[in-house]
Amino acid sequence: MSTATAPTLTLNNGILVPALGFGVFQTPPEETVGAVEAAIHEGYRLIDTGASYMNEREVGEGIRRAGVARDEMFVETKLWISDYGYDAALHAFEKSARKLDVDQIDLLLLHQPLPSSFDRTLDAYRALETLLHDGKVRAIGVSNFMPDHLDRLLAETAVVPAVNQIEVHPYFQQTALQRLNVEHGILTQAWSPIGGITSYRGAERQTFDDPTLLEIAERHGKSAAQVMLRWHLQQSRSAIPKSTNPARIAENFDVFDFQLNDEELAAIDELDTGVRGGPEPDTITLETFGKEIPEA
Ligand SMILES: NC(=O)c1ccc[n+]([C@@H]2O[C@H](COP(=O)([O-])OP(=O)(O)OC[C@H]3O[C@@H](n4cnc5c(N)ncnc54)[C@H](OP(=O)(O)O)[C@@H]3O)[C@@H](O)[C@H]2O)c1
Repeated sequence: MSTATAPTLTLNNGILVPALGFGVFQTPPEETVGAVEAAIHEGYRLIDTGASYMNEREVGEGIRRAGVARDEMFVETKLWISDYGYDAALHAFEKSARKLDVDQIDLLLLHQPLPSSFDRTLDAYRALETLLHDGKVRAIGVSNFMPDHLDRLLAETAVVPAVNQIEVHPYFQQTALQRLNVEHGILTQAWSPIGGITSYRGAERQTFDDPTLLEIAERHGKSAAQVMLRWHLQQSRSAIPKSTNPARIAENFDVFDFQLNDEELAAIDELDTGVRGGPEPDTITLETFGKEIPEA
């Protein structure tokens, strides 16, 4: 077991979260137990899953097998749009908690705004507020909320989200949204933090081959992925890289022994293309993205 530990960030309700975590989107259930167990052995203590990833049960099993005390782990998951509405979201918490086999979830997010039915989105968030009040979750937040979604949420609900998990990598940085998050005391958590979406979605340019990143990486004796993770950490974001490959799981956690200078950080900032890899949040509807989340 590695002795490395990730630095922590403090959420707006005082809860500590490891800055660097482990993602499991697209990790098939049969590979999830092993990947999570390997990640925890490597030193990761934050695991990010989602009800729609269909691997919460295996995430729970991986955590159990790793044998680390529950209170040393930070488990986060996301409710899917099919479970929005107040009662449905309360029940969705039960489904996720049972699959994960935990009494309390550390961070529970709404996976997407549902702009065509924003009232249901708000009702789901009010359910998260109830879960927070009842101690069933330690923090609540959102994902893929753009400024207009955040503005409405803040105006119509009581608890400021602790986290907005959004697509951020060198090719798509959403700096205005990041600034808005900061203004409201909301932590930006970067999904696809090493630009995986530029690779598995077959974009023309892939972050892993970027000449600027490779040049900086060479200077530090590191990889492009490690440089991107360092960039997130030094800019005070949380990042949750995914891998099922043991060597890459280790590589992505081996980022605490070097430092990028201001010029290098600025060079990475300049790589922003403004082109989103994931779906435009406003296009998410139940018709196109709804799917049933099975009972536990
Ligand atoms: N809220 C949302 O809507 C949302 C959307 C997407 C993702 N997420 C979360 O964010 C996590 C990470 O995002 P992501 O999975 O899209 O992308 P990512 O972590 O940026 O990249 C993952 C991809 O890169 C590969 N990879 C991993 N480490 C590598 C390395 N060191 N060098 C080269 N390739 C490497 C992985 O393949 P191997 O597995 O073969 O290593 C995988 O194809 C997800 O797992 C999920 O938890 C959230």
